[in-house]
Amino acid sequence: MKNKIKSVKGTYDLLPSEIYKWQEVENKLRSIFSLYNFLEIRTPIFEKSKLFSRSVGEFTDIVNKEMYSFLDKGKESLTLRPELTASVVRSYIEHNFQQISSIHKLWYYGPLFRQEKPQSGRYRQFYQFGAEIFGSAYPESDVELIDLAYTIYTKLGLKKWTLYINTLGKKENRNKYIGVLKESMLPYKDQLCKNCKNRFDKNILRLFDCKNRQCKKVMNEHAPLIINHLSVEEKDYFEEVKFILDKLNIKYEVDPTMVRGLDYYTNTIFEVRSENLGSQDALCGGGRYDNLVEDLGGNSTPAVGFAAGMERLLIAMEKEKLFKNESDKLDIFIAPMNENVRKKAIQIVKEIRYSGYSVDMDFQRRSVKAMMREANRKNAKYSIVIGENELQSGEINIKNMDSGKMETVKIDKINDFLST
Ligand code: HAM
Repeated sequence: MKNKIKSVKGTYDLLPSEIYKWQEVENKLRSIFSLYNFLEIRTPIFEKSKLFSRSVGEFTDIVNKEMYSFLDKGKESLTLRPELTASVVRSYIEHNFQQISSIHKLWYYGPLFRQEKPQSGRYRQFYQFGAEIFGSAYPESDVELIDLAYTIYTKLGLKKWTLYINTLGKKENRNKYIGVLKESMLPYKDQLCKNCKNRFDKNILRLFDCKNRQCKKVMNEHAPLIINHLSVEEKDYFEEVKFILDKLNIKYEVDPTMVRGLDYYTNTIFEVRSENLGSQDALCGGGRYDNLVEDLGGNSTPAVGFAAGMERLLIAMEKEKLFKNESDKLDIFIAPMNENVRKKAIQIVKEIRYSGYSVDMDFQRRSVKAMMREANRKNAKYSIVIGENELQSGEINIKNMDSGKMETVKIDKINDFLST
């Protein structure tokens, strides 16, 4: 028996039959990011492990359980990036962005790695696009990002999704609230699932995310909400975000139990959730993180951003039937009838390609019938069979593959024919 090597669990191949959907979405994303005047940044796939433990948070699921970390030959711990905000912040600090301008609007796109349990919409290598604004401490920059995410899903034609917002307040106030939450929930700790009991001391906010029925019930009945523990300033900030969202006609719901799974957030957080994705329903998530640049060694810089999963977006778009069938890509398929004409055919192929038309030809020296089947399979608009007669007369027959209509054209006038 042959011993075939399979792909790694939680990863997938993007095959040519699917990739056009990705390219269509990627092109639209690029044009929307430029409408909003965000500039692209690309950072390495792997970083020093401590970048993520210091930013995402030591007690988060991502850092605790999901990172692909390894020691390199110099015994340094490196990690395949599980998210991009930390990498972009590292780059922002390393390249002194602050000295170039007091505000930066950046976007990114690329693969990330998390060792999660794979299921539909959850992979071990997955793609995110996202955007970050550095240098504004004002609600209009929160809204700029929320509006950007909103516009992306709207312009891509998705219908079945909802934007949720909440606020976590600033770090000091949140820490006070965490104390209140612990105190309120301590009498009910025994009623929580094993996972929540483990999270109780180190990451109690995540109790709000537990899907266990009993935990949900206990939290609903007894957990105080952060929204009721905000300072006047934090409340005002959130009100202003909502006010501008209303002005822009952006529809949202406040989810007072949303906490997000990463430690760096301050004030506004948001998520877009699809109705078509089952349990992995978050299309995108983000929020403000005013302490992170300083925590990673930079000057104090307010920042806000979001990131969005590509696979989930593609699944949701498929479910809403937003992709047309792949459009015809190939202009011409050329079928040389024998050895003698093949060399001339190769020349013709090259000339037509240089004029800007896509051309393919037979590479397997097959029969005319087989070559025509191939032209059909490749969705060619036209096919040209070239034989001795054509070479001698200098004229070829171009067949319209849809209508079957044949037209005789001089070999050196093929480009003129195609351009009419
Ligand atoms: P996140 O919520 O961890 O946030 O991820 C953002 C999005 O990435 C999710 O809403 C989901 O669509 C997608 N995603 C996450 N994990 C997976 C997975 N295993 N498989 C497929 N898709 C996945 C962040 O990453 C933050 N850096 C967002 C941010 C940017 N906050 C501020 N700026």
